[in-house]
Amino acid sequence: MTNIIFILPDGTETAIDASEGTSVLQAAWDNKIDIEGACEGCMACSTCHVIIDEQHFAALPDPSDEEEDLLDLAWGVRPTSRLGCQVTVTAETDGIRVTLPATTNNQM
Ligand code: FES
Repeated sequence: MTNIIFILPDGTETAIDASEGTSVLQAAWDNKIDIEGACEGCMACSTCHVIIDEQHFAALPDPSDEEEDLLDLAWGVRPTSRLGCQVTVTAETDGIRVTLPATTNNQM
């Protein structure tokens, strides 16, 4: 299990434990963190947009071209934005801080 700290739009922080191999989106769903994920991880909606802390962002595998294209359309995108459905929980992500944007837009 590894630790994820979700930072909600109101600034509230919620720490959860997640199994390695699951996505950040699935870990959020499993712990009743309010991320929409309208396409359920098919990389078609961008409603799973999250902002990662700089340290962990730098250590993540690079996003695919498809993920980058969808992020270009996401609301409030930042330099450390990712799609939660495309970030896999690993030992290296332990302690990752994941900020939820105030809103999302659905590209479907
Ligand atoms: S859940 Fe739709 S892009 Fe991630």
